[in-house]
Amino acid sequence: MCGIVGYLGNKKAHPILLDGLKKLEYRGYDSAGVALLENNIIKIFKAKGKVSDLEEKIKHVQLSADTGIAHTRWATHGVPNEINAHPHVSQSGKLALVHNGIIENYNVLREKLEQKGYVFYSETDTEVLVKFIEDVYLETGKSLFEAVQLALKRVVGAYAIALISTEMPGSMIIARKGSPLVVGLGKNGEFIVGSDAAPIIRHTKTVYYLDDNEVAFLQKGKEMQVITLDNKRISPLLTELDLSLEELEKGGYDYFMLKEIYEQPRSVYDSMRGRIDTEKQLVRLGGIEPYENHILEADRIIMVGCGTSWHAALVGEYLFEELARIPVETEYGSEFRYRNPIIRPRDVVIGISQSGETADTLAGLRLAKEKGALLLGVCNVVGSSVARETHAGVYTHAGPEIGVASTKAFTAQVTVLTLMALRLGYLKKNIDLNRYENLLCELEYIPEKIERALQSDLLVQQIAREYKNARNFLYLGRGINFPVALEGALKLKEISYIHAEGYPAAEMKHGPIALIDENMPVVVIATKKGNYDKIVSNIQEIKSRNGKIIAVVTEGDKEVARLADHLIEIPETDEMLTPLVATIPLQLLAYHIAVMLGRDVDKPRNLAKSVTVE
Ligand code: G6P
Repeated sequence: MCGIVGYLGNKKAHPILLDGLKKLEYRGYDSAGVALLENNIIKIFKAKGKVSDLEEKIKHVQLSADTGIAHTRWATHGVPNEINAHPHVSQSGKLALVHNGIIENYNVLREKLEQKGYVFYSETDTEVLVKFIEDVYLETGKSLFEAVQLALKRVVGAYAIALISTEMPGSMIIARKGSPLVVGLGKNGEFIVGSDAAPIIRHTKTVYYLDDNEVAFLQKGKEMQVITLDNKRISPLLTELDLSLEELEKGGYDYFMLKEIYEQPRSVYDSMRGRIDTEKQLVRLGGIEPYENHILEADRIIMVGCGTSWHAALVGEYLFEELARIPVETEYGSEFRYRNPIIRPRDVVIGISQSGETADTLAGLRLAKEKGALLLGVCNVVGSSVARETHAGVYTHAGPEIGVASTKAFTAQVTVLTLMALRLGYLKKNIDLNRYENLLCELEYIPEKIERALQSDLLVQQIAREYKNARNFLYLGRGINFPVALEGALKLKEISYIHAEGYPAAEMKHGPIALIDENMPVVVIATKKGNYDKIVSNIQEIKSRNGKIIAVVTEGDKEVARLADHLIEIPETDEMLTPLVATIPLQLLAYHIAVMLGRDVDKPRNLAKSVTVE
């Protein structure tokens, strides 16, 4: 979490930095700041709140700096306020630093520095880092670049940093370990640095993704130098961004979340594009092809993820077990990594992550790698840590997702997991050929069916109006729609701040049924096939306790129609593919309730899109 931006060139730095910060606000938005190097003085501006608050603060200040760094924060150490906001400066005031990540040994470093007379104003690990770098610089008499290398070698934790100094006009030092960092190489020797490519794309498409333990020295108009912490010179492999500016704009929608919900027919199509050979009835997943034999011999598959990606993983468990007949366990990254899990070399671990940077998911993958498992990644962000640290993987190709609440990334992950399950089921001969072919054919209709599910929007808005003031919601589903219920509940709570719980419908009678009364809206996924009769019984149980039933049903449903207070119809599809369609009205419901309650849908309180801390 936290987003960092840097600029070095011939233009005014602050508008570029502010624009970049806005693109990175999804990473954190509780305070923001900028440091500008102007006439050998570092000028710092900070504001609590969003980037727009910072912008407001400096809009009348005359600034001409062409070098600067900036930060948008998601607090880890210390409350969100101006003192804790980045950039932080060194004791002499000559260095300014922005940082994304966590310095785990900051307390030890701070104590040592305090003994030497250093004074600290904030509660942050970043202030410790910048003061520590200056201390190493002064103590060793080495160049600032070397001092950064030496200091970082003694730091435990994760970081992406950008540093400027009054002694180094027209230059910047950047480094990464564990947190993402990209540098764009613009026209006339300018450099734009970002936590991801979003702040860069407006200026250039030529970028370099720093690797862990690399430090880069950027000098205006000169070639970038990349050197590892161990002093190995690197020839940076430049990448051309396959991203357009429009993808990062709202495109007429009020919120990115709504745009992304509506993008799903396209994004799901993109996740499948080129991967289904209809003539030969084959699924092709180039990324994992070289490892297929290994996967086929696996004793079990472990899926690891967090948040919405964990829900996609759970859908994956149902898909892999049903279609490929391979045992699957689904794990929260945070639980998996800390409980000494049994991992054997014949296990395959699939890390699922939109950003590819989630700390707990990454830590789980690293642990599994140490124990000899084959690692696969299912992620959206090309070149992300998950993509780089796994042996192979499949990109979801959903395009950039900016709304903090994940929508199109979820359906893209489920699409990719469906393709993987089908491919493995086919190779293992564990799936009936007719079923396989029908599913392949049906998959191709899914984008169209999502389009039809989106037509429930107006109806969903009416339902949202009726229930927006409810204090609690229950979401129920069975089988492969149980994870959909979990995802529906998560969407509602994260953006509307209404308490919501997802439950397997049959488990309701073991507890949550006690909560049901006329004030409890219950959203039930009750599509035809798979446990339909059973879910009808569950609906009856709710009805007899006066609960309000909002049912997501298959078009033309008659039975649930008699019981439910509200009916949202979605097109019929194979049971295994229903999550891709049934999720849509639940996303819309959460969205409309949040808008009606006046919430900041794209930037819900306390959350961040990319959680790079443990
Ligand atoms: C955060 C986001 C969620 C996301 C989760 C996992 O909590 O707010 O929307 O599902 O992280 O992120 P990942 O990038 O690993 O999918």
